[in-house]
Amino acid sequence: MAESLVQKFADAEAVSRAAAEEVARRAREAVSARGRFTIALAGGSTPRRLYELLAGPPFREQIDWSKMEIFWGDERSVPPDHKDSNFRMARLAMLDMVPAPASNVHRIHAEQPDRYAAARDYQAEIARVLGVAVTGEPPAFDLVLLGMGPDAHTASLFPGTIALTETSRWVVANYVDKFATYRVTMTAPILNRSRCVMFLVAAPDKAAPLAEVLEGPPEPARLPSQLIRPAGGELVWLVDHAAASRLRQ
Ligand code: 6PG
Repeated sequence: MAESLVQKFADAEAVSRAAAEEVARRAREAVSARGRFTIALAGGSTPRRLYELLAGPPFREQIDWSKMEIFWGDERSVPPDHKDSNFRMARLAMLDMVPAPASNVHRIHAEQPDRYAAARDYQAEIARVLGVAVTGEPPAFDLVLLGMGPDAHTASLFPGTIALTETSRWVVANYVDKFATYRVTMTAPILNRSRCVMFLVAAPDKAAPLAEVLEGPPEPARLPSQLIRPAGGELVWLVDHAAASRLRQ
C-alpha cells in the first residue's frame, strides 16, 4: 500500500497551481500509456480554482481534452443547474471553457427521485466507459481528486453514514443526517482502486481533522478520509500551511 505523500504549500492558490501541474502531467502520461485519461472530480469549493487554472493557459493546451473521461466522486441531490451542484461548479469553472466532448462528461444524475437508481446507473456508466463488468471488481481511475471537510468527510462519505461500510458497490446513495438529504457518492472500494488519489486541503478549519486523519489512530467511522488508502496506487495530499499547521511532520 502506498504511503501518503504530504506536500505543503503557502496558500490555497499555491495548492491549486501545484494540483494543476500534477493533473496536466498525469493526463499526458495516461494518454501516452493508455490512450486516454480517466478522472473523477471533487466537489465543494476548494477545487474550483484548480478547475479555473486547467481551463486556461498553459494547462488548457497541455491537456488533450478529447481523450479525457470526466466523472465526479459525488453529487448532491439537486438538478445540474442548482447552485449546490458539483457538476455545475466544474462546468462554470472549467468545462464551458475547454473542448471536452459532451460524451466524455459523465455527471451523476443525483436529482433523480429514485436515488438508488441514480447510484446504480452511475456504476453502470463507469463500467461502460472504463470497459469492465458492472458486477465485477471496480475499475481503476487514473486520478481521483478529493477534498476533505472539517468533519474529515470526503466525497459524500460522512462520519457515521452507511456508505462508510460499503464493501462491494462502487457508487451508493448515502443519507446524510446533518443535511437531512441523500447524496450519491463513490465508495472506498472504487476510490481505493485508483492509480492516484489526490486530496486538496486548504484553510485553517481543516488543521485539526487533517492531523487526526494523517497522524491519529485509525477511526474511519469518525474520520472517513482515513478510508482512502489506494491499495496499488499513490495517495497525495496537497495542503496549505494553514491546514498543515497541526501536523507533527
Ligand atoms: C462535496 C465534496 C466534499 C468536499 C468537502 C470539502 O460534495 O461537497 O465532495 O467532499 O470535497 O466537503 O469541501 P471544500 O473544498 O468546499 O472545503
